[in-house]
Amino acid sequence: MAGRSVVVGVGHYLPERIVPNSEFEKTLDTTDEWIRTRSGIERRHFAADDEKTSDLASKAAQAALDDAGLTADDIDAIVLATSTADLTFPSAATMVQAQLGMTKGFAFDVQAVCAGFVFALSNANALILSGQAKRVLVIGAETFSRIMDWTDRSTCVLFGDGAGALVLELQEGEGTAQDRGILAIDLNSDGRYKDLLYVDGGVSTQSTGHLRMQGNQVFRHAVEKLAKTAETALDSAGLSSADVDWIVPHQANIRIIQGTAKKMGLSMDNVVVTVQDHGNTSAASIPLALSVGKQRGQIKQGDLVVTEAIGGGLAWGAVVLRW
Ligand code: ACO
Repeated sequence: MAGRSVVVGVGHYLPERIVPNSEFEKTLDTTDEWIRTRSGIERRHFAADDEKTSDLASKAAQAALDDAGLTADDIDAIVLATSTADLTFPSAATMVQAQLGMTKGFAFDVQAVCAGFVFALSNANALILSGQAKRVLVIGAETFSRIMDWTDRSTCVLFGDGAGALVLELQEGEGTAQDRGILAIDLNSDGRYKDLLYVDGGVSTQSTGHLRMQGNQVFRHAVEKLAKTAETALDSAGLSSADVDWIVPHQANIRIIQGTAKKMGLSMDNVVVTVQDHGNTSAASIPLALSVGKQRGQIKQGDLVVTEAIGGGLAWGAVVLRW
């Protein structure tokens, strides 16, 4: 027998405002055609001026609780992955705690940029397996529209806002790869690559800053590192690519998603793709894709799911779980 962190609820929230690629044609030297063919993105959602990351996160969290048939009182901890928290402190997670009306337990943020949700899942799993929490809300939520340089066509067309959430619950399994729940995790980072993807501001530099990215350099690292981390995690679960029902990748670029699937020997029929509708929502992209994938009827109970992501740091990793 072995304790496992099992997904018992999933939900998401997207801001109302949808911005098609054509809107950027008015202000930038770009085209819908360029954005579509180079990134796979067709549209993205942007938060309203008065809408904060914690607002998006709370709505996604409530949807996940509803899906699980639970209330905030049933939750022991909130782990929120974000690089765009409302304030320098307190954490966006504690704001979600208050918005949900949860007066016990604990809440904190995790920051690993686009890989944030994978790192948050790892934290939540560790809390559950160490006996510190029985049920954890794991959220990815971002408002990257707030850190865009709207004059930089090479970055501002790529990102969007949104939030997704899971409820993880301790359940007993047989200790085999047939168990439901998280089966294996692989995390990595390498700070030498800071200059490939960063925000040129922050509290200690006394500004908010804007996202800066050497996109083609990040691209080169992405396919190789994502396929390797997914294979490492599968291997430690005693599984291989042939066992995978769904890859649910970080949604940054369709060409990265296709390249990673190919390197893993999997067809695009095994990949949940939402990048066309959401753009890159950083830490929110994987839980958003999990929620949409379930709604579409793609992900079903018992399916083997691999999530993988890479982002600023560089930081990257993968989680293997049975839904
Ligand atoms: N419209 C028109 N032309 C553009 C645009 C645009 N919006 N953006 C860039 N270009 C031009 C460039 O200026 C360049 O022109 P040049 O050849 O005259 O210099 C040309 O297009 C090619 O640029 P590249 O950057 O080489 O294009 P590439 O095919 O690599 O696509 C992209 C760029 C989409 C950014 C891609 O590199 C990518 O997706 N990279 C990975 C991004 C990513 O995965 N980030 C990870 C996580 S994000 C996070 O952690 C926050």
